Amino acid sequence: MTHLSVMGTNRRKLVVAGILVLLTGAGCKFYFKTTNDKFTSTRSNDSFERGKNLAYNICAGCHYDHKVNKFIGKPLHDLPRIAGRLVSANLTNSTTNGIPPKYTDADLFYLFKTGIGRSGRFLPYMMRPMMADEDINDIIVYLRSNDPAIAAADTTVGKTYINLVGKFGIRLGAHPQAYNKGVQRPNENDPVAYGRYLVAVIGCYHCHSSKVMGLNYADPEKSKGYLAGGIKLKTPDGKRIFGPNLTPDKETGIGNFSNEDFRNAVREGITPSGRKLSPPMGQWKSLTDKQVDAIYTYLQSLHPKNHKIRRLT
Ligand code: HEC
Ligand code: HEC
Repeated sequence: MTHLSVMGTNRRKLVVAGILVLLTGAGCKFYFKTTNDKFTSTRSNDSFERGKNLAYNICAGCHYDHKVNKFIGKPLHDLPRIAGRLVSANLTNSTTNGIPPKYTDADLFYLFKTGIGRSGRFLPYMMRPMMADEDINDIIVYLRSNDPAIAAADTTVGKTYINLVGKFGIRLGAHPQAYNKGVQRPNENDPVAYGRYLVAVIGCYHCHSSKVMGLNYADPEKSKGYLAGGIKLKTPDGKRIFGPNLTPDKETGIGNFSNEDFRNAVREGITPSGRKLSPPMGQWKSLTDKQVDAIYTYLQSLHPKNHKIRRLT
């Protein structure tokens, strides 16, 4: 009897261990189908300027080095040390170390829509399934241009290494997205629609919602605690900080911010009381008045959520 129950326990443990191994294996799947789409970018009058604006507002935070004023990549500190090491890529036209020259236009388009790179590797940081096709086109036009910020620089900042713990963690929270072709630009003269779009493609909601695990990349407004704050982050010097509540609640959100206060917070990184906000705030200097004001109008149109976030003082 005793003998049998011990056997039973062992078998159960074995089954549980087996299931865990299978789950970990499935959870760690990191390579996916690549594309055979034939997309090629087209250059129109304003595509360079629009692409440059989007690159500075969306890609610069992770790929731009302010010491040399170029998109040469840099180490990022978002991944916990036990999960590996994360460095963004060199986006210049260097044929040795720049990545875009190794990609076709179709590969880049597919990467931004799905999060799947040229080799099939999952790169969740670029995933923007709701980004308009024309905007992706313009970013590609910019990447192929001879703007000084992406002119060839052969430097390298090293390679990303994500171990099993990291892969498992990333795959718990993010999955490659369906290839969502045919997305139109919002009406840019409707501030609520344009602001909603900018919050999505820039990724403000990635830090200002309640849970990284609850982010919805295809339909950002369905994210858990959308823009109500709470996501745990780190300042560059390692202090714990939480993404604040951006809903218009007067007590816990930004209901008391004037349009001017908001411009100062987002573009200059200064709060209404004059405190300097921690990075990344203040990095969006390339947002035009029309863009930053559209984001403000959109945020102020949201349902206020009373959700108190602990702050740095
Ligand atoms: C949140 C940070 C983040 C943002 C925003 C971001 N990237 Fe990246 N990007 C990374 C990281 C990290 C890597 C390297 C990941 C790796 O090697 O696993 C990377 C890699 C790349 C690669 C190389 C892919 C490969 O196969 O190695 C390209 C191309 C790229 N990014 C383009 C862009 C462009 C263009 C934008 C703006 C539309 C952008 N990224 C926005 C973090 C970011
Ligand atoms: C990588 C994470 C991250 C992203 C992306 C991000 N923020 Fe922030 N934001 C923060 C953090 C952290 C703070 C708090 C900084 C502090 O208190 O020093 C903050 C503060 C703010 C504040 C001030 C809030 C207050 O109550 O003081 C505003 C407004 C704001 N962000 C708007 C935005 C907008 C708009 C975007 C997109 C254009 C954006 N943020 C993108 C992390 C982020």
